[in-house]
Amino acid sequence: MAIEIIATGKAVPPKRVSNKDLAATIDTSDEWIRSHTGIGARHIAHEDTACSDLALEAARQALEMLAGPRREETLEEIALTLDMIIVGTATPDYYACPSTACIIQDKLGAKNAAAMDLAAGCSGFIYGIETAAGILETRKSRKRALVIGAEILSRITDWTDRGTCVLFGDGAGAVILEKTGAPREGPEKRGLLRTVLGADGSGWEHLIMPRGGSRNPLKPGEGLKTPLHLEMNGRAVYNFAVKAMTETIEKLLAEEGITIGQVERIIPHQANARIVQAAAKRLGIAEEKFFLNIEEYANTSAASIPIALDEMNRGGILRKGDLIMTIGFGGGLTYGGNLIVW
Ligand code: UT7
Repeated sequence: MAIEIIATGKAVPPKRVSNKDLAATIDTSDEWIRSHTGIGARHIAHEDTACSDLALEAARQALEMLAGPRREETLEEIALTLDMIIVGTATPDYYACPSTACIIQDKLGAKNAAAMDLAAGCSGFIYGIETAAGILETRKSRKRALVIGAEILSRITDWTDRGTCVLFGDGAGAVILEKTGAPREGPEKRGLLRTVLGADGSGWEHLIMPRGGSRNPLKPGEGLKTPLHLEMNGRAVYNFAVKAMTETIEKLLAEEGITIGQVERIIPHQANARIVQAAAKRLGIAEEKFFLNIEEYANTSAASIPIALDEMNRGGILRKGDLIMTIGFGGGLTYGGNLIVW
């Protein structure tokens, strides 16, 4: 039995904001942003668009991939085969209740699926894959899960803070996991081989939305100078990210008993190209092994890895049988990685 990714999808808002566009409103420059992060642009959702809108579009694309070019099955029929929907997000449609996953379940008509959101910051997709795989494994009758990473970070960004606002973008990516009869070991092995998950809660203050939760709620009549927004200790998160990436790659390789040469591509969370370069240098891995699309989308948190997977899948970069690694890190502080035979 294997847990395989059988379809992918993505959604990115059409509005593209370049570094030069940002430099027209705050004290920054294309040169600074590119040289410090590798970011060239970000896509920003229309004010009427919420997290579930992007998540739904990505999910539909994945379902369409399964329906096939001749539409042997309708999307509604395929949606009924889903047993679980997980949405990794820090920007749900509604805080606390309902989950964004329940909205997706309703809009897809996936009546047989359980649904929940997962809060693990930028590692949400990695955590979501392992959670969904575990849920599929614990019952014979469960076969398929939809795992989405979706964010509208532009809505919790302080657009006057140049230290954070240049970093983030909006988007969603989705995959469908299926429990198949393929082997999990041996030369024909397929699907999710192993996952590393971890957290360093001692860094919880380094990436935080300080207002709006039960610790520090908004009070009636309170006038806000800025919308609720994320605050970040960039240097602390950077140091954590390089260490987390390096150690997670090493751990996945050691536990699986393989060398980096056997891994076709690494798909890192797209937070900062310099984080990837630093980890690559520490481990002596060629930078070309890492897939990067941060230049176009910036940091879309839990969405960045499934967006990359969809681009690689549709772009013919991933071939059946390729061994790939996903690596995530972010708010919490959390980290993790999946080792997958495509
Ligand atoms: O998704 C996971 C969460 N996030 C991350 O992984 C991000 C992790 N952190 C980082 O990627 C980096 O720390 C940043 C890109 C956020 C910042 O890069 P840095 O090299 O650590 O810059 P810095 O914060 O040390 O700032 C250096 C200088 C400062 O000026 P002074 O004090 O040296 O005169 C900043 O004020 O750069 C200035 N600066 C900017 N200048 C132009 C900071 N932001 C900007 C900006 N444009 N946007």
